[in-house]
Amino acid sequence: MNVAVYPGSFDPITNGHLDIIRRAAKLYDKLIVGVLTNNSKTPLFTKEQRANFIRKATTDIDNIEVAFFDGLLVDFLKKENAKIIVKGLRATSDFEYEFQQALVNKQMCPEIETVFLASSEKYTYLSSSIVREVGHHGGDISAFVPKAIYPEVIGSMKEKKAKK
Ligand code: PNS
Repeated sequence: MNVAVYPGSFDPITNGHLDIIRRAAKLYDKLIVGVLTNNSKTPLFTKEQRANFIRKATTDIDNIEVAFFDGLLVDFLKKENAKIIVKGLRATSDFEYEFQQALVNKQMCPEIETVFLASSEKYTYLSSSIVREVGHHGGDISAFVPKAIYPEVIGSMKEKKAKK
């Protein structure tokens, strides 16, 4: 079985992430979306919220699994018996950092390959931090996040802002 991992913080999942997930799921027998839990940045959404958003946005994709990981990505792949890391590349600005990570992961684990999918043109501007920023200031994020989770993302953001 050809298993691939699409890792990230997904704070929250965007339409750009969803586009990569849909395309990668067609390329492999199983795609595990790995949700990083020990990020140095404190995420806006809890790991459970982030995973639930992904699950809700991907109910129509059969060969997908959502799992948490912390520590090294290559250790997570070994645990899951996966040999491929899928990453989306939006622009040349992503390249240097992504290339560095791919080389470090290759150095640590030569049998693991990183596969880059070019982001669809319409999502090259999109990131989770943009969603958080626009949402925080009450801007319209309906075009940025999957339809299935939009009300929950907005509701949760309002709740968190009110608590501050
Ligand atoms: O969505 P993000 O925050 O850009 O995702 C970054 C992620 C999770 C892919 C990256 O931080 C990662 O792989 N973290 C795990 C730690 C690790 O293995 N680091 C070594 C590679 S340099």
